[in-house]
Amino acid sequence: MWGYHPSGIANIDDYRRAAGRRLPRLLSDYLDGGASGEVTLAANLSDLRRINLRPAVLRDVSAVSLAGGFLGACHAMPLMLGPVGSLGAFRAGGEAAAFRAARAAGIPACLSSFSVTAPEDLLDRMPPENAFQLYVLKDRGRTEALLDRVLRAGFGTLAVTVDTAVSGIRERDIRNGLRRLSRPGPAIITDFLRHPLWLAERIRARPLAMFLADDWPEAGSTYLEQAGFLAGQIDPSLTWHDLEWLRRRWPGQLVVKGILTAEDARQSVDCGAQALVVSNHGGRQLDGVSSTIRALPGIVEAIAGRAEVLFDGGIRRGGDIARALAMGASACLLGRAYVYGLVAAGEAGVTDVLRLLAEELRTTLALMGVSGISGLRAAGTVDLSRLQDDNGHG
Ligand SMILES: Cc1cc2nc3c(=O)[nH]c(=O)nc-3n(C[C@H](O)[C@H](O)[C@H](O)COP(=O)(O)O)c2cc1C
Repeated sequence: MWGYHPSGIANIDDYRRAAGRRLPRLLSDYLDGGASGEVTLAANLSDLRRINLRPAVLRDVSAVSLAGGFLGACHAMPLMLGPVGSLGAFRAGGEAAAFRAARAAGIPACLSSFSVTAPEDLLDRMPPENAFQLYVLKDRGRTEALLDRVLRAGFGTLAVTVDTAVSGIRERDIRNGLRRLSRPGPAIITDFLRHPLWLAERIRARPLAMFLADDWPEAGSTYLEQAGFLAGQIDPSLTWHDLEWLRRRWPGQLVVKGILTAEDARQSVDCGAQALVVSNHGGRQLDGVSSTIRALPGIVEAIAGRAEVLFDGGIRRGGDIARALAMGASACLLGRAYVYGLVAAGEAGVTDVLRLLAEELRTTLALMGVSGISGLRAAGTVDLSRLQDDNGHG
């Protein structure tokens, strides 16, 4: 399982640089970037690191286990590949490669609504612990047809994303012309030509199309047209009543993704969600909201065990996972971290990212004097004082 060890790569940031070398600027900016001034994007990363881990010595840590239960099953580690759109544009066959790597590592994965590969074409047998991420569309008939399709494909969990009433303003994409484009112009073609590995793979692969645009002629014929059209189909009129409707309509587990306040967390659970993801969409939506790690403790307290609290935003190291779990998350979703591996080396890159994070997490646990995930949740494994000192409160 852990066979691929590229030289010169020691951590996720090395994968980020490798991915940046392979991808055209248009795509690497889309992947790395956040909304507006990217304040929240930066805070997700820096606030995590302000939390000091506490060491504990002379505990027997000869057998450290990363196994943990979340979303109704036991997994090899407290991690899940989160939904990231357009994986197939970053790397041909990207969605299937990510799902295979997750399965091999014993963790679940979540397929974005805005994917190239269709839910039924991902894996020969879909483990029910995998999730499908839903953007509720203005056209409810199409939304319902999508739910039926996802259920038939074998997904047991639906993660409905609620922090995208409108798209965040991504200034890098505006500068690069991503939003206005329907077909690549000369500047983009030059950008593509400067990244021959990505381009050669793209030329060899099937033409890009979003699976949701398959039977939707108005979506347009090019990938960029389809992406723009589908983003405009996310329903901004969505309310808590619709969440109740979804709860009745979807027979499996329901996860609400994109919660950042205790009130919204409580209401999600009142509507019947089994879990929520504390997330600000990786800093890509409302800029200026708090980092997810600052939001986490208040939400864990408000939920008081009535639902599972998952976490994402800024996870780049095993120590970050330890911090989120110590503060009450039952598992973390990866976003950019696994995509960097995917871009750099396909399925083997995702596998290697998971290996790196597992190694880092195992080492962190051992040096903190705990033998398993449950030990991390004990009081006193992290020190919040640097996070609190920064602005006088947590
Ligand atoms: C390029 C990109 C595309 C994304 N697409 C989706 C998506 O289609 N649906 C969704 O719910 N979240 C999407 N996200 C958000 C991720 O699921 C996750 O919340 C975020 O990336 C976590 O932050 P991190 O990348 O710092 O780990 C996307 C994130 C990125 C970077």
